[in-house]
Amino acid sequence: MRIATLVASTIGLTLLAAAPPARAQTADLAPAPEAATGVADAREAVRAERRMVVAANPIAAESGLAILRAGGSAVDAMVTTQLVLNIVEPQSSGIGGGAFLLHWDAARSDLTTLDGRETAPAAATPERFLGPDGAPRPFMEAVVGGLSVGVPGTPALLAEAHARHGRLPWESLFTIPIRLAEDGFPVSERLRALLDGDPALRDDPRARALYYGEDGSPLPVGTMLRNPALAETLRAMAREGVSAFYSGAVAQDIVDTVTGHPTNPGDITLEDLAAYRVVAREPVCVPYRVYEVCGMGPPSSGAIAVGQILGLVEGFDLAAMGPGPDAAHVVSEASRLAFADRNHYVADSDFVSVPVRGLLDAGYLAERAGLIADDASLGQAQPGEPPFRREGRLAPSSDRSTGTSHVSIVDGDGNAVSLTTTIESAFGARLMTAGGFLLNNELTDFSFRPEADGRPVANGVEAGKRPRSSMAPTIVLDAFGRLYVVAGSPGGSRIIGYVAKTLIGILDWGLDPQAAAALPAFLSRNGPTELEEGTAAADWAEALEARGHEVRLVETTSGIHAIVVTPGGLVGGADPRREGLAVGD
Ligand code: DON
Repeated sequence: MRIATLVASTIGLTLLAAAPPARAQTADLAPAPEAATGVADAREAVRAERRMVVAANPIAAESGLAILRAGGSAVDAMVTTQLVLNIVEPQSSGIGGGAFLLHWDAARSDLTTLDGRETAPAAATPERFLGPDGAPRPFMEAVVGGLSVGVPGTPALLAEAHARHGRLPWESLFTIPIRLAEDGFPVSERLRALLDGDPALRDDPRARALYYGEDGSPLPVGTMLRNPALAETLRAMAREGVSAFYSGAVAQDIVDTVTGHPTNPGDITLEDLAAYRVVAREPVCVPYRVYEVCGMGPPSSGAIAVGQILGLVEGFDLAAMGPGPDAAHVVSEASRLAFADRNHYVADSDFVSVPVRGLLDAGYLAERAGLIADDASLGQAQPGEPPFRREGRLAPSSDRSTGTSHVSIVDGDGNAVSLTTTIESAFGARLMTAGGFLLNNELTDFSFRPEADGRPVANGVEAGKRPRSSMAPTIVLDAFGRLYVVAGSPGGSRIIGYVAKTLIGILDWGLDPQAAAALPAFLSRNGPTELEEGTAAADWAEALEARGHEVRLVETTSGIHAIVVTPGGLVGGADPRREGLAVGD
C-alpha cells in the first residue's frame, strides 16, 4: 500500500487527491555545485507552499503532514510524527527515550526550548560505570541492560509541548500511531539491516519475539510488523494522558524491566518516574552574519558548540572559499576549539556552573579565533578561559560516542518545530518493555570517569542529573527576526559538525537544504580531522595533511532534516544517507 494511502485510510483523509506541491520561487537557493557533492543523491529539494514535515521515515513524515492538513499545529504534527517514529524507526527514538524541542511561535515571534532529557535515577552515584577494579567498564557492557537507562523524558515533552502549543485534541494525535501499531507497517531496508547487524538485541526475549524469526534472522524487508503491546500503551496514554506512562502499569513495567535484567540490572524506581519534569529553558542564540542561530542550551552542548564554531569562523570569507579544503581547515580548527571548551565546561547546568554567556562572548570568540592559523593545524586544542565563569572545580570530561532522529516541521501559520529525539545508541539499552517500546541507554552519555587529576568532571554521574548531549535542534532567524531555517541531525557528538556544515552550506554557500544535507561531512571533535569517505571531501585530505592535520576518512551517517523558509514558500531536504523524506503542500 502506498504510504499516503495507508495514512489517509487511517484518518479518513483523501490525501492522494491533494494538489501537487506548488513550486516556490527559490532563486536564492541552489543545488550543490557538482564538485562539492560526493554523496549519491539524485533527489532535489522538496518545495511546498505553506506546510511541511521532514522526518527520518516516509510513513512518519506523511503522518505528520496528515495532522497539519487536518488543521493541526506544528506541535500536533510533531506528537504524531514522534509516536509513528517509535513504531517504524524503533532503533532511534520513542517514548522510552528523551528529546529536545525548539518551538517558534510565529504570531508572537517567540522561541521556546523544552528539555525532555532523561535523568539519572535517585540511586545513581558517580561510580556507576566503573568496574570492580575502579576502571571505566567497557562501553557496550555498560550500555546493554538496565544500568544505562535514564528516566524517559519524551512522553512528558510531548504532553508539555501539546499543552503549550497544541490545537487538536491530544487523543486524536494517537489515532494514526495506534492504527499503525495494530495493523503493522512494512519493515524497511534500514531497519532490517540494523536488526541484522545488532550484537545484542536478539538477547532480549521481547525484542527477539517482535523483530526476529525463530532462527534469529531479522524480519525480511516488507514484512508487516505489528506491535499490539505498543498499541495498548499508546491507547492508555491517549485516554489518560502521560500520567498513564509515569505511573500505574506502564511505570511498573519499566521498573520491572530495568531492575529485572539478569546480568546488568538498573535502579529506576516508581518515585523516579513520578518525579520526572520537562524543563523550559532559555534558548541559546548567537549572531552569525545577518542571522541569529538558536538552539538548545545545557544539558545539551549542541547550541553552544555550533554557536562557537560559527562565531569562530565568522571572520573568514567562507563564501569565497566555497566547499573545499580551505573551508574544511577553518571549520575543523574552529571545531577543535569548540570541543575543547565543550568537553571542559558543558554539562547539566542544574548541577554545574556552565559559563554559557562567556563561551559565546564576541570578545572571547575573537580571541580564540586568533588561534586559527592559515597554514597549520592546532592538532589538539586546549579549553579557553571564557569571561563570566566561576572558577572551576572541573576537569575535562572524556568523550566517546546510533539511535537518534531529527524532525523539522513548519505549519500553515508559520509556526515551527525543531525536535531531536533519541534513545542514544541504536535500539538503546536493548531492553524492551512489556508495553512494546525500547528503553534508552542515555546514561552512558555521562562521563564514565567521575574525576580526573583529582577533580570532578563536569559531566560525571549524579542522582537526578541529565547527561550531556550533543543534540542540536536549530532554528535560524533572518535579519528581520523571521523564521528562516529549521534543522538538526542525529549522529552522536558528530551532530555538532553535521549541523554546522549544513548551516554554512545554507547561510554561506546559498545551498538549498537538500544540497546542504548532501554536502560531505568534514569535522573535528578535537582529535583527527574527519572527512566523509567516498565523497569529494576525501580528495581534500592531502591539502589538509600539508597543513598538519591528522586526517581520518570515516563513514558518516548524518540524518540532516531541514526546512528553509523563502519568499516563495518552503524548501525541504532530507539526508540521502538515511531513509527520510520531506513532504508538504
Ligand atoms: O544526546 C546525545 O548527544 C546522544 N545520545 C545522541 C546519540 C545519537 O545521535 C546517535 N545517533 N545516530
